[in-house]
Amino acid sequence: MSKQRDSPNKLSTKTGQDQRAGGGGAPKCYTRRMQSRPATSVLDLIGQTPLVELARIARGLDGQIFAKVEFLNPGYSKKDRIALQLIQDAEASGALQRGDTVVELTSGNTGTGLAIVCAARGYHFVAVMSRGNSPERARMMTALGAEVMLVDQCAESTSGEVSGEDLALVEARAQAIVRERKAFRADQFQLPGNARAHYLHTAPEIWEQSGGIDVFCDFIGSGGSFAGCASYFKERDPSVRCYVVEPAGAAAFAGEAVSRPNHKIQGGGYAMSQLAQIDRALVDGCLQVSDVAAAEMTRRLASEQGLFAGYSSGANLAAALQLLDGAEQGARIAILLCDSGLKYLSGDLFLP
Ligand SMILES: Cc1ncc(COP(=O)(O)O)c(C=O)c1O
Repeated sequence: MSKQRDSPNKLSTKTGQDQRAGGGGAPKCYTRRMQSRPATSVLDLIGQTPLVELARIARGLDGQIFAKVEFLNPGYSKKDRIALQLIQDAEASGALQRGDTVVELTSGNTGTGLAIVCAARGYHFVAVMSRGNSPERARMMTALGAEVMLVDQCAESTSGEVSGEDLALVEARAQAIVRERKAFRADQFQLPGNARAHYLHTAPEIWEQSGGIDVFCDFIGSGGSFAGCASYFKERDPSVRCYVVEPAGAAAFAGEAVSRPNHKIQGGGYAMSQLAQIDRALVDGCLQVSDVAAAEMTRRLASEQGLFAGYSSGANLAAALQLLDGAEQGARIAILLCDSGLKYLSGDLFLP
């Protein structure tokens, strides 16, 4: 009797190459480590994001750029990490009790993270956001069970460009809701859990995945990601240089006059000269990125590297390229890809 042969369309775990080589197992490109058992909740899926070298974009330059793919968190942003930390800290200290309401101001990402964590832990969550942030963020938070309050922008502001003054209006509304509802404020600008989430998790993951870096640069909003990562990197190796990134024309942290408070890089760049999260001793330099450069780099991340991220990721990449072209030639630079491009589809970032 003739030996039975596999039909050509029968599924197999072997790649053509594996089969020719007589080997087995998953294709070589599937390098992310699979979890060994099912997670018990979505909270277990936060963090442990991949790090990818942007080899095509950095081609021809002296140095390397490693990007932490934070848009692969459950809420499609790095802010899931701080949401989890803030709620865990509040539960541990007794500041948050069963049945309490949680309130926070957000550009959408911290709110989405908090909506996820509050849904999983059984808290009611109120997200307070400027109407200037993209509407898909509000829709996502609502779908996750959050109560979303939108705050009108200042008269001179435009949709998609949220200024520090717009944020001050959101802050005032958030404070009022906290008083009215006797709620817990998951205050990302003030609470230490923000930076600590990145100190405990994001930065150690980067260090382990890269085998060490020379430079970190980060577009700041609350400054929590910058501060947490910079503290950890400098502790590991005091020679690591850390740069704050701000929008051109709104670089108040760098001490520049603010000529253009409204810009397109959502999630930060609020032209604040001081931030409670950032100790100035961590800052080795300040960089500025224009809307045009941030948008161009966001599009190049998508078209050249297949990484579909938002404006601030493009700003981080633009800053890293400035450094490789100037003060940090030859360096290994880490950046965060802060959130997903899916959060910007209603704007003009990806218009054909
Ligand atoms: C998309 C995006 N990028 C950057 C930032 C700034 O991060 P941080 O608040 O840690 O400075 C935020 C903050 O909300 C954000 O949502």
